[in-house]
Amino acid sequence: MAAAGGLLTALASPTKLLLALFLVLHLVPFSSITAAAAISIGVNYGAYANNLPPPAQVAAFLKDRTFIDRVKLFDANPDMIRAFAGTGISLMITVPNGDIASLASRSSAPSPAASAWVASHVAPFYPATNISLVAVGNEVLATADRNLIAHLVPAMRSLYAALSAAGFHQIRVSTPHSLGILSTSEPPSIGRFRRGYDRAIFAPMLDFHRRTRTPFVVNPYPYFGYTARTLNYALFRPNSGVFDPATGVNYTNMFVAQLDAVHAAMRRLGYGDVEIAVGETGWPSAGEPGQLGVSVEDAISYNMNLIRLVNSVNGTPMMPDRRFETYVFALFNENLKPGPTAERHFGLFNADFSAVYDVGLMRGQAPAPAGGSGRRWCVAKADASAAALQANIDYACGSGGANCRPIQDGGACFYPNTPLSHASYAMNAYYQAAGRHDFDCDFGHTGVLTSTDPSRGNCKYQ
Ligand SMILES: *[C@@H]1O[C@H](CO)[C@@H](O)[C@H](O)[C@H]1NC(C)=O
Ligand SMILES: *[C@@H]1O[C@H](CO)[C@@H](O)[C@H](O)[C@H]1NC(C)=O
Repeated sequence: MAAAGGLLTALASPTKLLLALFLVLHLVPFSSITAAAAISIGVNYGAYANNLPPPAQVAAFLKDRTFIDRVKLFDANPDMIRAFAGTGISLMITVPNGDIASLASRSSAPSPAASAWVASHVAPFYPATNISLVAVGNEVLATADRNLIAHLVPAMRSLYAALSAAGFHQIRVSTPHSLGILSTSEPPSIGRFRRGYDRAIFAPMLDFHRRTRTPFVVNPYPYFGYTARTLNYALFRPNSGVFDPATGVNYTNMFVAQLDAVHAAMRRLGYGDVEIAVGETGWPSAGEPGQLGVSVEDAISYNMNLIRLVNSVNGTPMMPDRRFETYVFALFNENLKPGPTAERHFGLFNADFSAVYDVGLMRGQAPAPAGGSGRRWCVAKADASAAALQANIDYACGSGGANCRPIQDGGACFYPNTPLSHASYAMNAYYQAAGRHDFDCDFGHTGVLTSTDPSRGNCKYQ
């Protein structure tokens, strides 16, 4: 809330304070206040590039120009950790996989290597830099290295003990997993961990998370799981959903379904109460020529809806009311990443700090006009089928996160109680909240934009 904060400090007396509040509440479009106040989002600061600015500039840029308030590092680079001192941005730092075996301890006391790691990688920087989590390795299970995997939980315990012994009780310990840890995941209710790892690795690991109140960190990537048929499902766009017969839930988004599959696997072992955090997820903005589902618009759709979802209090069907600490992959386009073109285009920003696209994370940008000529609303096409209208309502009011209270019984827009009217309200609420991109009103070609305000009587369209 940079603008409102500045306004309030510029004025002193109680009268002026009230005036300022009035101004803020009445002159600034509501959406920009809530967006600014509510956003909490992390990014992965990968540096597989030869053109990135120095860490101090990166930290200053994130602090001054964006709402990004968490950063995840793939190592414990001292220059990067130091750069975030005094920024208010919290950091997840990572113990390299190669250090895991040495950190492990057989007893409940920290190993000498764990104490040494804390002394050299945490103590010099903390609390000036708000290190909020130490990740022990990255996607260790995916290495299939039995020796490494066997040492993972003992290393997590040992590092946690070393942090406690040093008095760093606020610093959490975890380890990020790829979704390869699941043997089944669709529909979500049948989610389970790979046999062999479930009791031997995940039960003690989840027990550690429960005892230490630390999150189980996963890296869900719908990008690596979509087909032409499931592209809309992966991109948070209207789609017919994936029905889970065990729970009766229609999943309309793959990210949500993947989180619930992880939750189902955890619950199967008796740890459904442990928090889940998202260590990495993202969508590239460029790929091979003609590559389906890879464009700036697609990246915007994924990341903007992701940020809205993890900041909402909706949670998921299996985890209602939960928020998920989330780190988008990635902060920068990294020009030296090997592999397909898309690998070098996951960034929110270019190396010169210009935004690759805007997902509402920049501070101090002029809010979208709230009235006057340019204003548009999204409504259902009159010839849309009843099934399509219902699907649009389900989507917009469900995982789309739109506020649909006005079309419920007793709401100001309940009458006329017709599918067309209810769908129009829901589709517009979604379109306005999603950022008013034309594609937010597509709804499988059943939505249309209009410059005529559809509000009537007490029923006000946003
Ligand atoms: C450090 O970061 C955590 C997580 O974002 C936050 O809850 C905590 O208040 C921060 N601590 C300080 C001293 O800023
Ligand atoms: C889920 O969606 C499918 C496809 O749109 C539909 O056939 C089914 O009735 C829906 N089920 C529920 C419980 O909403």
